[in-house]
Amino acid sequence: MPMSTIKTNKGAKFTLHWPSLDEYTTRVKRQATIMYPKDATTAVHLLDLFPGAHVLEAGTGNGSMTMYIQRAIQGPGSHLDTVDIRNEHSLQAEQNIERFWRGIYRQGITFWRSSGGLERVIKRLNGSDQGVDHLGPSSAELETETTLTASQLKKKKMESMEKMPPNPHSPDHQYDAISLDLPDCKLVLLDLMPLLKNDRPMCLYMVNMSQILDLAKWLRSNCKELVMERVLEIGWKEWTVRSAAVRSKVKGRVHVGGFGAVSLLPPSPSSGERDESVPDYGPDNIPDDALGWVCRPVQLPRGHTGFLVQLRKNST
Ligand SMILES: C[S@@+](CC[C@H](N)C(=O)[O-])C[C@H]1O[C@@H](n2cnc3c(N)ncnc32)[C@H](O)[C@@H]1O
Repeated sequence: MPMSTIKTNKGAKFTLHWPSLDEYTTRVKRQATIMYPKDATTAVHLLDLFPGAHVLEAGTGNGSMTMYIQRAIQGPGSHLDTVDIRNEHSLQAEQNIERFWRGIYRQGITFWRSSGGLERVIKRLNGSDQGVDHLGPSSAELETETTLTASQLKKKKMESMEKMPPNPHSPDHQYDAISLDLPDCKLVLLDLMPLLKNDRPMCLYMVNMSQILDLAKWLRSNCKELVMERVLEIGWKEWTVRSAAVRSKVKGRVHVGGFGAVSLLPPSPSSGERDESVPDYGPDNIPDDALGWVCRPVQLPRGHTGFLVQLRKNST
């Protein structure tokens, strides 16, 4: 579908175009809070991604960051392992990715769904699960379990049935970058270290400064191998730059709406009818002698979304 214009029965014009990745990720069906384009694109930059890279991501959520990563790495030999603890999130993400531009970013992704979360998938990836398909307690172990309620036991049984994909990598495989958007990721960092190449980055999405401070203190006493290089809060200040009719120069009574609004004629106060003798000046048909320009920030809420924390492995 090339870009085209359609008109409603009331005469309003719309243009149709293929959604950009930004438009798609912010409007598609959601199961989880997404990483917004301003953060996702910066995270791609902090992760220093390149075509052919191997990346580990957790949690997959809605698949927004997954698509930004894929767009940066997809190419011969690339691979993205993405992990979520919630089945429904991961399934939604996979569907979202398959539906974007007929699935151009789907190839080369392994979706890991495990109620044991990243912690459990790491065992599969580092080979410590000995290659079994499920990593939960065995049925025999569960039979002897007496401390759990019936629903806890049911959940554990379901976990024990969980199928995991085979590890697609060689035993000594390491990633070029790791991206984490999890409620609390500190405790898995030590287990992730062997999976990350030396001198390569990790990017953590964290919502508040106390979490980051906590992480900094924890790294200092538990993981000197990870260096906190940068903490960023990404601002996004959008401006509008467009033409508008200058009221004093337009002959007749023309109402120019707020900045960025299409100039429309208000109804005449006496009759309630539009005054057809005054032309309707939209943004593209303003006469030259009435042309002015508007440049100012768009007044939209673009508040705090989160922080990006760049860490680097330094095992020298
Ligand atoms: C904020 S969402 C991620 C959004 C995602 N980055 C995006 O752009 O769409 C956080 C996700 O982490 C998942 N999660 C929470 N704890 C986890 C764990 N231990 N292992 C894997 N995923 C986990 C949640 O189920 C949720 O889908």
